[in-house]
Amino acid sequence: MLRIVHVAGARPNFMKIAPLMSALTRYRDVEQILVHTGQHYDALMSEVFFDDLCIPRPDVNLEVGSASHAVQTAGIMMAFEPVCRDLQPDVVVVVGDVNSTAACALVAAKFGIKVAHVEAGLRSFDWTMPEEINRVVTDRLSDLLFTTESDANENLRREGVAEDKIHFVGNVMIDTLLRHRERAKALDMPSRFGLDSGHYALVTLHRPSNVDAPDSLRPIVDGLSRVADSMPVLFPAHPRTRRNLDSFGFAQDLGDVRLVDPLGYLEFLGLMDGASVVLTDSGGIQEETTVLGVQCLTLRPNTERPVTVEQGTNRLVSLDADSIVQTALYSVDGGRKSRRSLPELWDGKAADRVAEVLANTQGAA
Ligand code: UD1
Repeated sequence: MLRIVHVAGARPNFMKIAPLMSALTRYRDVEQILVHTGQHYDALMSEVFFDDLCIPRPDVNLEVGSASHAVQTAGIMMAFEPVCRDLQPDVVVVVGDVNSTAACALVAAKFGIKVAHVEAGLRSFDWTMPEEINRVVTDRLSDLLFTTESDANENLRREGVAEDKIHFVGNVMIDTLLRHRERAKALDMPSRFGLDSGHYALVTLHRPSNVDAPDSLRPIVDGLSRVADSMPVLFPAHPRTRRNLDSFGFAQDLGDVRLVDPLGYLEFLGLMDGASVVLTDSGGIQEETTVLGVQCLTLRPNTERPVTVEQGTNRLVSLDADSIVQTALYSVDGGRKSRRSLPELWDGKAADRVAEVLANTQGAA
């Protein structure tokens, strides 16, 4: 029997864990345990994803909650250590690049438990991003590195990761998207918000570098409010962003931008699919829009997902109001970027490939 502990902590983890757990149920000799770190805890940031994606309830919830990076990371480590000691898993699976990912990888590695990192090798080369630190640390600690794009393979090789640790499997988040796209469409989300499909912009923002300082958030707010003069703009706001818009006194400067609460997975997917353009600083949304063929403007100076720019519909946009407005209008009128090709192995079967490698893993290192 191979005992696998899956770790999920924050919103972008849940849609990655879902297809993995589902694919592994086909292996009779695999026991799966799901640990939720509690990094995200609001119903709209966590529970709704379990319901939408039919993820089993977590076996263990570490209930760590929000705090500074050090306090949150340390809290997750302290709470995860007894879980590893008591359960003695053969493999700990971590996904993505959030604090829960790096914290649990470090605990498992010190126990000599094999660490499997799903979405390994992505690099923005921007050391000011907390996620970049989490990616590098997690990959260094991992025994099995599952990658989504060929740039990630190159990055890992350059960092000296042995070839036999790298498994190019594709994108498990896209497995989830393809599996649920029709369900999401059936919700007819645009009309629920009084929007015409193909005639509105959708916004998400939560990067500390964009939303934590008034000087960074100001030009984005100005740009979005000017975009909203030309087309409807819907903005489901992350709690961090909502709090900062309020405390900086910027909420009223958003003009006709419609600010709403965070949405569930299916609701957001339905809105993304119907949007003419998505403006975002998320990592995953750059990939999802590429698959959907929807225009994506990434409000960041860099991306760890270059395949979405090279082959997909993604563009990086300078963080000033004029650039945001001009690129948004251009992208929906004459400047549409077509997808050159679907990135390799983004075919809905990535989780099957991960499961096969995991199921054939020998126990503890
Ligand atoms: C985290 C991840 C980021 C990911 C994002 C997705 C890290 C370093 N960052 O950022 O990579 O893209 O999740 O959302 O792991 N809050 C709530 N309710 C919640 C969770 C958070 O209100 O359920 C608020 C709290 O005020 C908290 C703030 O949001 O302080 C930030 O949460 P945190 O988990 O620290 O980071 P995110 O910005 O969500």
